[in-house]
Amino acid sequence: MFVLTSSQMREIDRKASQEIGIPEVVLMENAGFCVFEEIKKDFGVLRDKNIAVFCGKGNNGGDGFVVARYLAQVCPNVKVFLFDENVTLTSKVFLDILKRLEVDVSILSEELLLSLKTQRFDIIVDAIFGIGLSKDIDGLYKKAIEYINSSDAYVYSIDIPSGVCSDSAQVKGCAVRASKTVTFVYPKVGHILYPGSYYCGKVIVKDIGIPEKIIKDIKVKILTAEDLDVSKFYRYPDSHKGDYGKVGIVAGSKYYPGAAVLCSNAALQSGCGLCYLITPQETLYFQSLRKPEIIVLPVESKEGVISFDGFVKFKEYFAKLDVLGFGCGLTRDSEVEKILIHILENFQIPIVIDADGLNVLASSQKAKNLLASYKSQKVLTPHYMEAARLLGVDVKDVAKNPIDAATKIAREFETICVLKGSRTIITDGDEVFINVFGNPGMAKGGSGDVLTGIILSMIAQGYSAFEAAKISVYLHSLSADILLEKKTMQTILPSDIIEGLDSAIRRLIE
Ligand code: APR
Repeated sequence: MFVLTSSQMREIDRKASQEIGIPEVVLMENAGFCVFEEIKKDFGVLRDKNIAVFCGKGNNGGDGFVVARYLAQVCPNVKVFLFDENVTLTSKVFLDILKRLEVDVSILSEELLLSLKTQRFDIIVDAIFGIGLSKDIDGLYKKAIEYINSSDAYVYSIDIPSGVCSDSAQVKGCAVRASKTVTFVYPKVGHILYPGSYYCGKVIVKDIGIPEKIIKDIKVKILTAEDLDVSKFYRYPDSHKGDYGKVGIVAGSKYYPGAAVLCSNAALQSGCGLCYLITPQETLYFQSLRKPEIIVLPVESKEGVISFDGFVKFKEYFAKLDVLGFGCGLTRDSEVEKILIHILENFQIPIVIDADGLNVLASSQKAKNLLASYKSQKVLTPHYMEAARLLGVDVKDVAKNPIDAATKIAREFETICVLKGSRTIITDGDEVFINVFGNPGMAKGGSGDVLTGIILSMIAQGYSAFEAAKISVYLHSLSADILLEKKTMQTILPSDIIEGLDSAIRRLIE
């Protein structure tokens, strides 16, 4: 499913009215009617309800006037509160209709708002701001939103909860906490990313009669099973281990031996034919949890950290790999930087860089330049902090616009970027997929190592880096969601995610 920005939505509205000739009033009427239908579906009989509709001066308020008109036909207790009579031309059509129908419309003031504290509304419709919100909310708007949030009414937000930025999902000053949000055509970024997503309640997407053919060039999508190519999961009866690819993983240190185990176990569990783990010899003590099928290449180390001299001794192995993973648990030692630079200068196989590999990139311009010109397929898997370091910005800037941050990384390094978070973003710098699956139980050290292992395995099995990233993010989350279905506590171990991958793959392909 597509996800729209406010400018794309405006362009769609413009095309519908100016190029196709569907009048704006028709679209507003359809939008308002859709919201009314949703309320009617939820509540059935509305006659005995007390209903308030708060309308802003933009077209979102106009949608609210339409809802109020339909509500007033079936309920005598509908009150419309208007912030400003100076509404848009299209909205005015519907405000005038309300006035002619003698629906109870008042201009909101502080006094009026105070007097509402003694009234109880069963339903409140929030039509204050939609995609036109442009600055932080204050004054009477803020007080009205606080009033809505303090009431125990069921709150419908039209298009997006007032106060949530539809493009960044950030809250501008304050925002309505909706029970349900009814939006149009496709969801907006603000419905999908956090914190906006918290404020929306259930999101309902309604068709308001905009022809599909004018919705073009939308690059952001919610990642769904339909976006995934599962053909490579089929195993031919006459296949052998070589058909499922060879993964190499450079990972682990005396300090983080588990990262190497999680990454390689995940790669193997998700189907690659062979998995080589290139790891400092000091990690071997820890590896009783390692799957015995993993081939370990123990590298000489310097105080528990992989050494460059030890690494290059294994170079004959690298020629036979289909993909190389680099970074999980390696530490920030300078040897790690030397090895990554060596790989980027000398290798030509697809590479997935995570964790300490990303730290090297953040601190070494040479590594950055080499990565940008590295000719094979690449995947970077930063979390927000790693992305901020890579881009040289504050982590708050990444959080404010993660789609933008991921796209910048993808373009700068000509790579696939998997920006990990509660809504992981996957992009090749052009198309963007947002993952809405998974759960907070996954927020645990080691989850990322598992994801890297799955991506490596998918590339080894023949998926392109972009396809591998999409399918891996999906399976990683699906495995965690399946685990949560069986649990009473919201906590999941990354090693459980690995064990659950099989069920996740089965659910995806069936
Ligand atoms: N404080 C006060 N006024 C504001 C603020 C703010 N923080 N932010 C924006 N405004 C004003 C703008 O100046 C403008 O007058 O609110 C109005 C924007 O309101 P919207 O209804 O959000 O924007 P608009 O473009 O008119 O309509 C878009 O219409 O198609 C429907 O519901 C759909 O969201 C969509 C909406």
